[in-house]
Amino acid sequence: MLTETASATTSEPAFTVDNFEVRDEDLPEFRDLKFEDINELHLDHPGANDPEYRKRRDYIASLAKKFRETGVITDVDYNEQEQEIWRTVANRLEEIQSRRASKFYLQAKKDLGISNDHIPQLTEMNRRLKELSNFRVAPIEGLVETRGFLSWLSWRTMLSTQYIRHHSRPEYTPEPDIVHESIGHIPMFTNRAFADFSQFIGHGARVATDHQLEELGRLYWFTVEFGLIEEGGETKAYGAGLLSSFGELENAFTDKVERRPFDLDEVINTAYDYSEMQPVLYVVPSYGYLKDVTKRYIQSF
Ligand SMILES: [Fe+2]
Repeated sequence: MLTETASATTSEPAFTVDNFEVRDEDLPEFRDLKFEDINELHLDHPGANDPEYRKRRDYIASLAKKFRETGVITDVDYNEQEQEIWRTVANRLEEIQSRRASKFYLQAKKDLGISNDHIPQLTEMNRRLKELSNFRVAPIEGLVETRGFLSWLSWRTMLSTQYIRHHSRPEYTPEPDIVHESIGHIPMFTNRAFADFSQFIGHGARVATDHQLEELGRLYWFTVEFGLIEEGGETKAYGAGLLSSFGELENAFTDKVERRPFDLDEVINTAYDYSEMQPVLYVVPSYGYLKDVTKRYIQSF
């Protein structure tokens, strides 16, 4: 079993890429996560000038910090205003998703018990994830740097925020929030092939050179965040950045976007701009294909 922490360097020992079974006792200590300033709220955030929002966000962030000391996830007692934001966004997204989302994703959301009427707790989702694909989510208080974030996928763990966006703009968030995580990302980890593919990215991140890490970041962007898949002759969305954004999800299927067949070499060499609507997206033929090409790529590191 690998023992190094998220702050892996390029001189790590060899590892096998087929290590899919990660037991809870094999996980590195979460307290060893060394991240700086992850609880920053940038000035352009809609809640930046709302002291009550900041206080609430800080409180929820403190629960993530507590998790790193204790290893125990604390459920968040979401208030009525937060639940209302969830209901508004979840209902609206569901309508678009019913036409545009991958069939697998739509079923997975049900399997995880994610409903439009309340914000799901990480603990609830973890119970089902463990049974379905031996994956898990762990709380984090904000955006972390690429290597640290991606490396945790190597232990079949996704770091997830728990706070929710500001009520003034339910359709928008400049940072990940519980809507993006649990409507965007978490259902896909119930897919074995997708979970294995994610773990390969994590393995790669632990040993990647800085250049390879940049490539991995692009692979992650064009798949985990903005991926499309061919399903029964139709193109559907499975990327979290699409599934959790009304604007991006509708836009992805217009003629403003060029939808290209997935080509790993092209993807890892294609730069993206996170502040703009995506002009080019890549379509994979299946989740198994994505897993296989990524495995071969990571083996070449
Ligand atoms: Fe994301």
